Amino acid sequence: MRQQIVAGNWKMNKNYEEAVELTRAILEKVEKPQGLVVICPPFPHLRDVGKMIKVRKNFHLAAQNMHHEDKGAFTGEVSADMLVSVGAEFVIIGHSERREYFKEKNPLLAQKVNVALARGLRPIFCCGEPLHVREVDTHVGYVSKQLKAGLFHLREEDFRKVVIAYEPIWAIGTGRTASSAQAQEMHAAIRILIARKFGKVVADEMTILYGGSVTAATAEELFSQPDVDGGLVGGASLKPDDFAAIVAALK
Ligand code: 13P
Repeated sequence: MRQQIVAGNWKMNKNYEEAVELTRAILEKVEKPQGLVVICPPFPHLRDVGKMIKVRKNFHLAAQNMHHEDKGAFTGEVSADMLVSVGAEFVIIGHSERREYFKEKNPLLAQKVNVALARGLRPIFCCGEPLHVREVDTHVGYVSKQLKAGLFHLREEDFRKVVIAYEPIWAIGTGRTASSAQAQEMHAAIRILIARKFGKVVADEMTILYGGSVTAATAEELFSQPDVDGGLVGGASLKPDDFAAIVAALK
């Protein structure tokens, strides 16, 4: 069965007290989710936010990033094992902000995916094209390349644990949401690509999230598309009322 998910990526926002308050407000406002709610706070807050949400059914904890080695002399970095030890179940890998600002390339991301899965974390693997690619209509090929390079080396049983998030870069933090038709076009193309590699059954069961300026106003229409299985939400995940409305839009 395909899982429906709304994940809130807090990015580099909220100090500890604010994070506790935001979690409390989200728990209060989000009622009986129709799918999974995944909260992705910054590293220092993982353990305590995780403790707060684990009392609620369908709430899960994710980290926003991890290092690609298991351990060692990598000052300032955080390993998959550390994330698991504080309760994380998912980890975002390959967010466009990591690709752009931290120069994370496909081979490194494939390595992160391997380490995450080996440690029992489910990757939320991000893909998405920049504006200049969309403008020349080569976005499907661009995203296909990212997915093949990051995920298609996996064995089927591991691949099935991955959640894919399509986040067109031109829609992130810009207030310019992709139209539901644009999202559906890409999600359907991703599913066809997966079917060719892993078969139709696997493709049908993969969760593919849309991310990029999802709001309470746009969520319902986006999530109503047959191949859109929820969202990876940035800005609106910091506003409990908006986030709750987005979760309520799950089909
Ligand atoms: P916004 O929802 O703020 O556009 O961010 C999307 C995103 O990057 C989620 O990972």
